[in-house]
Amino acid sequence: MVDRNGWGADRPIPAGTSRDPPARFVEQANVFDPAIYDEFEERWPECWERAAALLSWNEEYDTVLEDEDAPFYRWFTGGTLNAAENCIDRHLEAGRKTHTAIRWEGKHGDRRTYTYRDLYVAVNEFAAALRDLGVEADDVVTIYLPMIPELPIAMLACARIGAPHSVVFAGLSADALATRMDAAGSEYLVTCDGYYRRGDAFNQKSKADNAKLALEADVRTVVVDRLGEELPHVLGEDEWDYHDRREEFSGETVDPVARDAEDMLFLMYTSGTTGDPKGVVHSTGGYLAHVAWTTRTVLDVEPADTYWCAADIGWITGHSYIVYGPLALGTTTVMYEGTPDYPDRDRLWEIVDRNAVDVFYTAPTAIRAFMKWGEEYPERHDLSSLRLLGTVGEPISPRPWDWYYTHIGGEECPIVDTWWQTETGAVTISTLPGIGEMKPGAAGPALPGIDVSVVDESGAPVDPGETGYLTLTRPWPGMLRTLYDSDGRFLEEYWMQFSDPGTGEWRYASGDTATVDEDGYVTVLGRVDDVINAAGRRLSTMEIESAITDVDGVAESAVVGRANDRGDTEIYAYVSTEGWSEAGADVREAIGANVESAIGPIAKPHEIVFTPELPKTRSGKIMRRLLEDIANDEELGDTSALRNPEIVGEIRSERSNR
Ligand code: WT7
Repeated sequence: MVDRNGWGADRPIPAGTSRDPPARFVEQANVFDPAIYDEFEERWPECWERAAALLSWNEEYDTVLEDEDAPFYRWFTGGTLNAAENCIDRHLEAGRKTHTAIRWEGKHGDRRTYTYRDLYVAVNEFAAALRDLGVEADDVVTIYLPMIPELPIAMLACARIGAPHSVVFAGLSADALATRMDAAGSEYLVTCDGYYRRGDAFNQKSKADNAKLALEADVRTVVVDRLGEELPHVLGEDEWDYHDRREEFSGETVDPVARDAEDMLFLMYTSGTTGDPKGVVHSTGGYLAHVAWTTRTVLDVEPADTYWCAADIGWITGHSYIVYGPLALGTTTVMYEGTPDYPDRDRLWEIVDRNAVDVFYTAPTAIRAFMKWGEEYPERHDLSSLRLLGTVGEPISPRPWDWYYTHIGGEECPIVDTWWQTETGAVTISTLPGIGEMKPGAAGPALPGIDVSVVDESGAPVDPGETGYLTLTRPWPGMLRTLYDSDGRFLEEYWMQFSDPGTGEWRYASGDTATVDEDGYVTVLGRVDDVINAAGRRLSTMEIESAITDVDGVAESAVVGRANDRGDTEIYAYVSTEGWSEAGADVREAIGANVESAIGPIAKPHEIVFTPELPKTRSGKIMRRLLEDIANDEELGDTSALRNPEIVGEIRSERSNR
C-alpha cells in the first residue's frame, strides 16, 4: 500500500476526544432525526428524490436512476431543468429579489454586493453577450478568472444558455490553460487583464495571450477589466471588453435553456496518475441536486444565512460550495478575493464579524496556519454569529481540529469534516452535524444514500482499523459521468480495479487509502496514485516530473510529498542530471521556472535534491516509497530489492549537506 501524503499507514492520526453535537445547534439543525439513515437505506435509490425536490424542474424526471449501462449511470432521466434558473430566477419569483446573493470582499478592502436581482441582470446580459459571440448550447467556454464576481457570473451565464464551462484556476500557467482548452476543444475564453497577488498587479492577459498562441483554433475572448489604469491592456482581434459587452446588451434577458438532467453542466480538469489532466464531466440534474442537498444537510445552510466557503472557485470546492450549492438554496454566499494574512492575520475573522457569517467552511492547511499564528487574531473579533464549521481537502488531525472547535467555534459549533473529490462532485462522507458524534481525525460515516467500503487488493472488505482502499459501492447523483472524450480512461481509472463487470457489481475506486472503525467512521490516510495533495491542491507527480525532465541536462526525476513541521505537504524533487557533477544553481533555477511555466507556481518544488542516480528496483522501477521515506526522515525499510542500494547513502549525505 503506497501513500504519498505524509499520513501513511505507518503514521496514523492519533485519535482525538469524541464530542456530541452541541445542544444549541441540534435544536435548530436542518436534519436532526437519525432515522434518515434507515429511510435512505430502505428506499434506495428513490431516497435521492429528496435531493431532487430541492430543485425546480421544467419537466419532471421519469426515473431516479438508470443503471442499464453501468458504470455510465444516469440520474433523474427524462427530467429537464436549467441550473442558472435554479440558482437565480426562482428566488426572484419567491419574493427574494433584494436578498443578497453574493457578498464580495475584495483584496484591498473594496466590497460589492449583488442581490439576486443584480445577479439576474448581470447573468442575463452576459449570457446575451456570449450568444452574440456565437456560443451555442454544448460549446465549451473556458473561464480563466481570479476570485472576482465576474467568475460566478460567467459560469451562470454559460449555464443559462446550456454551454458547459471549464474553469481553469487563475494561478495555472499559460501552458496549462492551453492544454485544457485544446483537450476540451474550447474556442471561447473569458479572462481578465490582471489581478492583485500579494499586493502586486499580476498580468493574467499575457498568460491568456500566450496560451492562445499555442492553440490551433481561433479563440474568441472576453476580457474583464479588473485593474484599470494600473495595468493597461489592448484588445486584439476577436477580443471584447466584458463591460462594453454588458452595456451593449444592457437590460436584455435570455430565456434559460432547458437542459436534460444528464446534459453536461461543466467540465473540470484535475490531476491523475499520468501527466494528462483528466476532464471530469459533471451533469446538470444529479450534480445540482447533490450539491444543494449536502449544502442543506451537511453544511446546515438555510436561505437566511450568510455562508462563507473560503476556497477558490477555480477548484471543485468553490464550484459546488461557493457557487452552485448556496445559490441553489437562495442563501448569501461570501466570496473573498484576498489571502488570510493581508492586511493582517485577523482578516478572515474581521470578515466573519462584519458580515455576521453563520457557516464557515475551509481547509485544514488554513486551520494549521491560524493555529500557528495564535488565538489573539480571532480573539479580536466577535465570532458568535457562527453556527457551524466545516473542513475539506485533506485529513485534519486532532490538534488543529480542537483549536478550530475552541477558538473559532467557541465550543458551540459542530465541525463537519467532509470527504469528497472533484470526481464525486459533492460531499459523500461526513457526519450529519445535528446527529452524528464527532471524532476528530475521522471524516465520519458515509452520508445517507452513499455506501462506502474499505477493501483489500482483492476487493474484500478489511476489518475495522485495518488499512485498505476507499471505494464507493453504489452510484450517487453528483458523481462524474465520464472523463471528457475518454470513456475508456474513465473505466480504467475508477472502475476496473475493484469491479466485477460479469456480475454487474461496480465499485468506484477513489484513489485514497483509509481505515474504517466499528461505527463506520472513515479515517482517510492518503492517496494511492501518483498524486500529491499539497495544501489542499491536487498535483500529479508525473506532470511535475515531466516539466523537470524537460530541462536541459536533467536525466531523470522523482517527485514525492514531504510533510513539513506544520503538517503541510511540500513538493520534494529528486533529480539526476547528465554529467552529475555539474548540477548547479542554474539547473535548480531552470527546474523551478519550467515547472512554473508548465503548471503554475503552486507546483514548484520546495526542495530539489540532486543525485547521481535514482534508486531503482531490479526491473528498473523508481522506488518512490523509499524516496518519500528519505524526504520525511522516516526509518527506511528493506533496501535489498534495489539494483543500486549504495545510492541511498549518497542521497542522504547530499540531503544533509543542503
Ligand atoms: C482528494 C480530492 C473536494 C474537496 C477538495 C479536494 C483529499 C478531500 C478530505 C477529507 C481527508 C480529504 C482526498 C481526496 N480529501 N477531503 N475531509 N479528509 N482527505 O478535491 O482536488 O479532487 O482532491 O482530497 O485525498 O481524494 P480534489
